[in-house]
Order: sequence, then structure tokens, then C-alpha cells
Amino acid sequence: MPLMLSRNDVDSVLSMDACIAAVETAFGELTRGNADMPQRAVIRLPEHKGLFLGMPAHIGGDEEVLGLKVVTVYPDNPAKGMPTIFGTLLLCDPKTGKTVAIMDAGYLTAVRTGAASGVATKYLAREDSKVCTIFGAGGQARKQIEAVHLVRPLEKIYVLDKVVATRDAFVTDMSALLGVPVEAVEDAETAVKAADIVITASSSHDPVFDGDWLKPGTHVNNIGSHSPDARELDTRTVVRSKFVADLKEANLAEAGDILIPIEEGAVTADHIYASLGEIVVGEKPGRENDDEITVFKSCGLAIQDVSSARVVYEAAKAAGVGQSVEL
Ligand SMILES: NC(=O)c1ccc[n+]([C@@H]2O[C@H](COP(=O)([O-])OP(=O)(O)OC[C@H]3O[C@@H](n4cnc5c(N)ncnc54)[C@H](O)[C@@H]3O)[C@@H](O)[C@H]2O)c1
Repeated sequence: MPLMLSRNDVDSVLSMDACIAAVETAFGELTRGNADMPQRAVIRLPEHKGLFLGMPAHIGGDEEVLGLKVVTVYPDNPAKGMPTIFGTLLLCDPKTGKTVAIMDAGYLTAVRTGAASGVATKYLAREDSKVCTIFGAGGQARKQIEAVHLVRPLEKIYVLDKVVATRDAFVTDMSALLGVPVEAVEDAETAVKAADIVITASSSHDPVFDGDWLKPGTHVNNIGSHSPDARELDTRTVVRSKFVADLKEANLAEAGDILIPIEEGAVTADHIYASLGEIVVGEKPGRENDDEITVFKSCGLAIQDVSSARVVYEAAKAAGVGQSVEL
């Protein structure tokens, strides 16, 4: 009987450090050709300002896993008192195809997206990074900061959000959780100029800062936008950066952050220096000096979901968490 795991169940067994380790391994397996991950199916519902994504993946090897996440993105939901993202993940036994678990994947999405930024930050941010500025204080933002703080302990965090209540709740909760001063700011220029690491985790369709504000050596995790016509980074940021994709093919299918500069003629597709997995397995170096501006562009990959779901499933079984249900 499949194990049903609620959001609280997932939360109770999935730690960020375990998720970062699983996601890092998954990026490596993808680059080694040991994973099967079709480009995700996207249904756009402009009449409802919504997005529906079907994301299957199989990863082979010692930690073999097979699964499918269905996730929706409705940016107007928070105004209706609901999260932007809902998700459900189906985990199957790779040997028989039998469904072994069905779990909530809203929280899982935030953790695995944070984990990918954690992996990217580990390879791309300066070792002495201490100040982080984050755009967007919603569902993803908290796990972004948590992951970055695990790999580069932060001493100061600046946060910007259009919605003051969301931003202020982030300040209260994250300063208490991490024991690091978190300051709400409105002046994006000062906050970007002060940052060693910038994170964009907003629902904005347009650039949220000016690329000329980035000081040499800054690392940017760009995770919010994932449609060809939307971007959080301006062309200047992209041109100035060593640009790392979660996966080149996925970026070239979905990421306005790189597609719009390509369309403008400012860069070509070759501007994408690497997929993250190439850096993880050592095929290409990550950061090479203290002056490089590095960008990690994440659209979100199904390998992140299934590798994290495997961690959840194994931990839930060991802890007796969840409910077995006859389908
Ligand atoms: N890369 C990935 O793997 C991945 C995974 C999950 C979600 N996402 C994307 O991340 C984005 C954020 O998701 P979420 O769940 O946190 O949504 P959310 O709605 O909970 O939070 C987004 C926040 O961004 C703020 N915002 C909008 N424009 C802004 C601006 N110009 N400056 C600062 N803040 C601004 C909003 O007020 C809101 O609080 C979405 O676009 C979502 O699709 C990406």
C-alpha cells in the first residue's frame, strides 16, 4: 500500500542538509548520463494566470528513484490567502512500477529549490561571502536563505518585497530561526551594492535590480522566473556574469533571463558557461577568482524533486511517519 505523506509529514523528516546532499548527487548523476528526465510538460492558463507542470524523472545507481511531480504556480493566490505553489509527488518502485508513496510537494518544492541554490552557492560564491540580499519574501525565500546560510554562514541579510506584511513576517521569522540580523529595505541599489550573494526569489516578470550595481565577486541565485517572457535579471547582469544553468537545455526552453538577452543580440546561447552538474562532477571549474560575478539560473528540475522525495520516503519509513492507504 502506498504511503501517504502530508505537508507536515514531509516537513518533519526532510532536513535541508540531507536535501542539499541528495540534490547535489542528482545533478552529478544527470551529467554522467545516469538519469532520464524529459523536458517538463507545461500547460499555461493565462485566463487564470496559472501554470501547470508535469515533471517526471528516473535516476539510476545506488539511490535509484522513479517519480513524477505535478505542480501548479498561481502568483495571485497569496492575495486569496493561498500559497502560490501546490504540488503532489508520486513515487514508484523502479523495479515493478508499483506506487510506493504519494506526498505533498508544496513544501518539498521550496526545500529542493533551496537545496539547488545551496549546491550552486557552494561551488560559485566566494568563500568569504557574509552579506546576502534577497528579492521576494514568499514561499521560496525562506528555504533559499536557509540553504545559503548552511553553505556560507551569513552575518547580515537584506530583504525586499512589494508586500510589506510578507516582508516583515520574513524579518521576524528568519532572524529568530537563523540568529542573523535580517533587515527590511526599500532601496534596492544600496542593498545590492552591499551584497556578496544576491537571491531573486520573486514573482516579478521584470528585472528587480540593475546589473551595474553588482560589485565584483558577487554570486546571484536567480530562481523566481521560469517563463520565456519573464525575467528577474536585466541584460547587464547576464552580460557581466559567468552564467551557470541548472540545465542548459531547460534554460534555453524556459528562462527569459537568458532568452531575452539572446533575443536582444547581447549574448548567444554559448554565454551559458555550464550546467550545474558539469561543475559538480568536476568537468568544469566553478568560481575561478574573487572578482567573477557568477549567476546560477534555476528553472527547477524533476531530478531535484525525485531525489528529495526519496530522502523523504526513506526517512518516513524509518520514523513510522505517514499513513498507508489502499488505492
Ligand atoms: N526555480 C525553481 O525551481 C522554482 C521553484 C519554485 C518556485 N519558483 C518560482 O519562484 C517564484 C516565487 O515563488 P513563491 O512560492 O515564493 O511565490 P510567492 O508568491 O509566495 O512569493 C513571491 C514574492 O515576490 C514578491 N515580489 C513580486 N515582485 C517583486 C519585486 N519586484 N521585488 C521584490 N519582491 C517582489 C511578491 O510580493 C511575493 O511576496 C515564482 O515565480 C515561482 O514560480 C521557482
